[in-house]
Amino acid sequence: MLHVDINAAKADMTHIYGKPDPRSYFRELSKVDYKIPDRAKPLFDSLICHLEDRKEEPVCALDLGCSYGVNAALLKHDLDMDDLYEHWTDPLLDHATPEQVIDADRRFFDEIPTTSSATIVGLDSSMPAIDYAKNAGLLDEGVALDLEREPLPEAASEMLQPVDLIISTGCVGYVTETSFSKMMPAVTQGQKPWLANFVLRMFSFEPIAQELATHGYVTEKLDCEPFVQRAFVSHDEQEGVLDKLAAQGLDTKGEENGYLIAEFYLSRPQQDAAVPIGEIIGV
Ligand SMILES: C[S@@+](CC[C@H](N)C(=O)[O-])C[C@H]1O[C@@H](n2cnc3c(N)ncnc32)[C@H](O)[C@@H]1O
Repeated sequence: MLHVDINAAKADMTHIYGKPDPRSYFRELSKVDYKIPDRAKPLFDSLICHLEDRKEEPVCALDLGCSYGVNAALLKHDLDMDDLYEHWTDPLLDHATPEQVIDADRRFFDEIPTTSSATIVGLDSSMPAIDYAKNAGLLDEGVALDLEREPLPEAASEMLQPVDLIISTGCVGYVTETSFSKMMPAVTQGQKPWLANFVLRMFSFEPIAQELATHGYVTEKLDCEPFVQRAFVSHDEQEGVLDKLAAQGLDTKGEENGYLIAEFYLSRPQQDAAVPIGEIIGV
């Protein structure tokens, strides 16, 4: 089934991706308890620690579909999604301009101790989100690109070369093997990065895994309790998603409880894949 058909079942959230600051994003997503970045944080932390120990240097992570730098905020600081919801839904921000929000956020994040030495680069199709995340100091580097539709420019290719780990939450489905096929030649020029993607169950990761296999990668799905991404926006959305899952012959047990469910895929170069995932992330 095509991703575009599956996406049609999901509520359209694109109106909150392109604002100049994260207030609308967090206000809207608080209504559906969007929590996958929280669930992802311990796994991403473990992978960063593992790769840092191996490299004996700070790791560079690329957050694909990074939006306003949400994963960067959680990975760099001792914060969780509740903290971010509280911060960006504060009524005191109601009448602030985006510039005032950016200034206040830079100070807010500067004052919270940094808990990771990782460098975080972001890629997202939303230029306003990338600009915000760089200006607020959440991303070390960022690039606004839609690799589903555009080529990878040379400058972006150079920015991606140091990447040791590619992470994503809530992005696969918007991006497909097309984006990965354009990124992989750039990121594998030196060291070969690992890829850690949280993927909604209704999107098959297989086409991306096959693309990665052409670059010598092995992909494994973590065998564990599923990861709750968010609640359904409406009964209609839930019905639509249940239909898409059933049409692919997938069980619908988790989603019947009212939540979109994600799975975790780790893709590593063949020569790195001997160590069991559970040993690295402790599950
Ligand atoms: C559900 S949000 C997830 C954002 C963030 N990772 C999080 O978990 O909070 C999906 C993000 O994918 C981005 N996106 C959509 N299409 C994209 C594309 N073709 N390439 C890169 N990013 C894309 C959107 O702009 C949005 O920021």
